[in-house]
Amino acid sequence: TKYIWLDVDPGHDDATALLLALHCPNIHLLGVSTTHGNAPSDCTAVNAARCLLAFGAKRDIRVYPGAEKPLLRPAKHDPEIHGLDGLGGVEGLPAPDSPDVLSWFATDGDGATIRALEGMAKAIKDAWNKGAGQKVTVISTGPMTNIAIFVAAYPNLLDAVEEFVFMGGGVGLGNRSAAAEYNIMCDPHAAQIVLDAPVKTTMIPINVSHMAIVTDAIHKQLLCPGTPLEAETPQAATNLRHTLSTLISFFADAYKSTFGFNDGPPLHDALTIAYVSQPELFKTIRKRVDVELTGTHTMGETVVDIWNYQSCNDSWGTGGKNCLVAQSVDVDGFFDLLLASVSRCDKV
Ligand code: BDR
Ligand code: CA
Repeated sequence: TKYIWLDVDPGHDDATALLLALHCPNIHLLGVSTTHGNAPSDCTAVNAARCLLAFGAKRDIRVYPGAEKPLLRPAKHDPEIHGLDGLGGVEGLPAPDSPDVLSWFATDGDGATIRALEGMAKAIKDAWNKGAGQKVTVISTGPMTNIAIFVAAYPNLLDAVEEFVFMGGGVGLGNRSAAAEYNIMCDPHAAQIVLDAPVKTTMIPINVSHMAIVTDAIHKQLLCPGTPLEAETPQAATNLRHTLSTLISFFADAYKSTFGFNDGPPLHDALTIAYVSQPELFKTIRKRVDVELTGTHTMGETVVDIWNYQSCNDSWGTGGKNCLVAQSVDVDGFFDLLLASVSRCDKV
């Protein structure tokens, strides 16, 4: 079993990462922190709680709200892709202001909300102490502000981190500029801090996440398992599947109108959990990765040293080949895992 901490900015595909994190058999989710990103941080925090409730999370998996803005740059959201509140068009989730949602935030003895940094540090420390050296994998599916702050604030806890796994960046490919992918573009300085940390790090770039397309056929299976491929779209089998179907439909429309993706939307963020649960589904290669921090046209680009121009040592972090870069995913294997997790979620 892998112990994980998940940092998210839900976000349609972040929601699917939350579902997988809750229902993959070999994943133990310790807590969820949230960041500015697809929507303002107050929305992403509430959205994480709405998803945990809808996906049948046990009450000990709490939400820890985190950074409201990037380290240096102003915050930038993405209503075109995710709607104004981050989960545009998604039906059947609890209301953002419902007492159940608001009581999902972690609080201390005085009733004050525990923030991302403290929550993450405590979970990692506790796992290490209770589990006789149990390490935690820290997964990021949004801008990496919270993770960078953790790296800066708790260098002594980095030995207890198994790995950083993040969805973001591209190998010669951007999506929110000609060169930069959204998560890295939002907080490029945070991404560089994480890449420089002396911790094993894996990047799932858009080159790979663009392989994980929810086609109409997969959408039908999600909505109603066992549907023959040639059938008209059936009625939703359950509330959960209806919710997921509306999520996919909104995301599909956004990807069609913004990027011309006609076959379906890519489930970027869910791949991080699939990677931690079943690394054998992925091909990776170890390279030096840095982030362009000043380029006039390329700010936020992940610069992957494919040809090994830099002479690098063997360490993770500064001066080393600091990143395992995913190159491909077994798409069928990924969707099998997702659909099986949805079935498990449906039974909760
Ligand atoms: C990333 O940006 C957001 O739109 C998604 O949630 C994903 O994390 C893809 O570039
Ligand atoms: Ca995201």
